[in-house]
Amino acid sequence: MSKKKVLVTGGTGFIGSHTAAVLLDQGCDAVIFDNLSNSKIGVVDRIRRIAARRPDFAMGDIRDKAALSALFRAHDFDAVIHFAGLKAVGESVAKPLPYYENNITGSLALYEAMGNAGVRTLIFSSSATVYGPVNHVPYLEGMPLSATNPYGWTKLMNEQILRDLCAADPSWSVALLRYFNPGGAHRSGLIGEDPNGIPNNLLPYAAKVAAGELERIHIFGDDYDTPDGTGVRDYIHVMDLARGHALALDWLAAKRRGAGAGSGATAINLGTGKGTSVREIIAAFEAACGKTLPAVVGPRRPGDLAATYADAGLARELLGFETEYGIEDICADIWKWQQYAAENGI
Ligand code: NAD
Ligand code: UD1
Repeated sequence: MSKKKVLVTGGTGFIGSHTAAVLLDQGCDAVIFDNLSNSKIGVVDRIRRIAARRPDFAMGDIRDKAALSALFRAHDFDAVIHFAGLKAVGESVAKPLPYYENNITGSLALYEAMGNAGVRTLIFSSSATVYGPVNHVPYLEGMPLSATNPYGWTKLMNEQILRDLCAADPSWSVALLRYFNPGGAHRSGLIGEDPNGIPNNLLPYAAKVAAGELERIHIFGDDYDTPDGTGVRDYIHVMDLARGHALALDWLAAKRRGAGAGSGATAINLGTGKGTSVREIIAAFEAACGKTLPAVVGPRRPGDLAATYADAGLARELLGFETEYGIEDICADIWKWQQYAAENGI
């Protein structure tokens, strides 16, 4: 990757911190902008230990227009990777307004600040949730999109806003990266997912059960039309995901050079293309931690789908992206991180 200066909003969070580490490793400068609503300042120093270089950190909120213009005045960014936002589906149903305020109002403020500063290369964190409940797997980028909860709507709306922006001003280059189910942690065990309270998602929940902090895994239904009856998802290692962002930055830059202008907004799946069931995840986690994880089958979680996984062909074709890690690595790395976090009071 050619040396770039990249603004990473939400860069102390789970995916942002790993991406910042990869960018620094590749010789880029990374400036993290985060309000620390769902992450801790100590992450910055642990990124420095991994990458042997410190990311810049600016504490701030994407809804704060004055803070954003000061940030863009202070730095000459080549690109922005926009991770900042709220991400809990259930909470978004209970409290839709903060979700629209953070994820829509905040994003609009960011795009406006970028435009004012003449920075028009952007990666947006989208999600497989935009495929909604109607499509058949594997999910392809051209499929019809829909949402079933406010969080999903914020992803869909951001995608539309960015398509409209690119249509109105062709100097923008945007990648809408649709993540499937991120998991794992940095190989060093120094950074990983650090959810507040009881996790909603399977992998961090399993990690807490393995650590003895929660009693048992509740399997949300075993009567789905899947090989073992439990839900199937496409789990992608966060380090693969992070590398996908670095490749997407290179791709956007190359496209801009080739076209002499921006390249519009392109949606790209970041997944493995492979589905793994809840029972297979539990077995992989048991192998990683060397313990039996108690699990009970309960009712389906409302809104869950039987199986979701990516068609990973476009990422391969456009970005040359191939995943390196499997669920064994994902579980082993989460377990390593879980132990480091427990030993260090994180
Ligand atoms: P995360 O919560 O760990 O990271 C998000 C970061 O954004 C946090 O550090 C938080 O403090 C910060 N933030 C939130 N609101 C902010 C605001 N208004 N101003 C500044 N900073 C703010 O989440 P993550 O798992 O790293 O997810 C990153 C992005 O990827 C999110 O946009 C999320 O919706 C998206 N995504 C995540 C997943 C997943 O399963 N983790 C899947 C698909 C898409
Ligand atoms: C969830 C979000 C989705 C988001 C994704 C990001 C919901 C309804 N969906 O997806 O919008 O994009 O995270 O990764 O929250 N499971 C259990 N027991 C648990 C937790 C989960 O059996 O305690 C099962 C689920 O039914 C599912 C699988 O494990 O089959 C994965 O669940 P989860 O990790 O929550 O991810 P998603 O539901 O795919």
